[in-house]
Amino acid sequence: MDERKKADELARMLGQHLDSLRAAGIEWLPAAESTTSPSMPLPVVEQSSLVAAANASPFSEDHEQRQHALKALQQQVANCTRCPQLASTRTQTVFGVGPLDPELCFIGEAPGADEDRLGEPFVGAAGQLLDRIIVASGFQRQEVYICNILRCRPPGNRTPTPEEAHHCQEWLEKTLDLVRPKFICALGGTATKYLLGMDTGITKLRGRFFEYRGIPVLCTFHPSYLLRSPEKKREVWEDMKTLLTRMGRPIPGK
Ligand code: URA
Ligand code: URA
Repeated sequence: MDERKKADELARMLGQHLDSLRAAGIEWLPAAESTTSPSMPLPVVEQSSLVAAANASPFSEDHEQRQHALKALQQQVANCTRCPQLASTRTQTVFGVGPLDPELCFIGEAPGADEDRLGEPFVGAAGQLLDRIIVASGFQRQEVYICNILRCRPPGNRTPTPEEAHHCQEWLEKTLDLVRPKFICALGGTATKYLLGMDTGITKLRGRFFEYRGIPVLCTFHPSYLLRSPEKKREVWEDMKTLLTRMGRPIPGK
């Protein structure tokens, strides 16, 4: 291959690689220390190391297959009628959002009115508070995964019944199997109860680590509870610091 063809092939491969990153929700990459003008063919040695890096990336075939499987799961969930009341009162189902292989996954209770209307978890008032918790912890919303115990809004935002949580458990388990978060933060008593199968109150469980299928889970209060009891934000920040320390991440502002 001549140099021109090699450069075109490389550009095509990198373009595909970036598309797959974007499909996985990765919006930006750290800049290299020096950049080469894209209009210049890269020196041969750099080209081959870039190709090697693209091939060696974890975002390969398995990643694409999981992305497809997750899309198929989302379709299946959209047609779910296991809970007749929820299926007949929802505007739409609310699946998880975020990239595959995130460092962190937040699990809440169930969609509220805003989520039901917009089809995305944690976009209402509680979601805005969750966003602030995420950013204060040194993450961007797009880099964490966010989902709920239920994929449908319970009428009037009542607490999910055990039967509803049981019906939705398969969707949550399959989602987590495909997304593979490294850590989970369970938000509030309902998430803790149905993710971990523990009935102990959240006040006793918060700030402690448990395990879900080998994934460390930290439990804390739900942002909706913080909207009603803002004085509890201090405890949630303590819990986030505990989590960040366990994750080996810096604590912002420290
Ligand atoms: N509360 C939740 O538990 N989940 C949402 O998605 C929104 C509010
Ligand atoms: N009860 C809950 O279910 N969640 C909280 O965060 C606090 C009280």
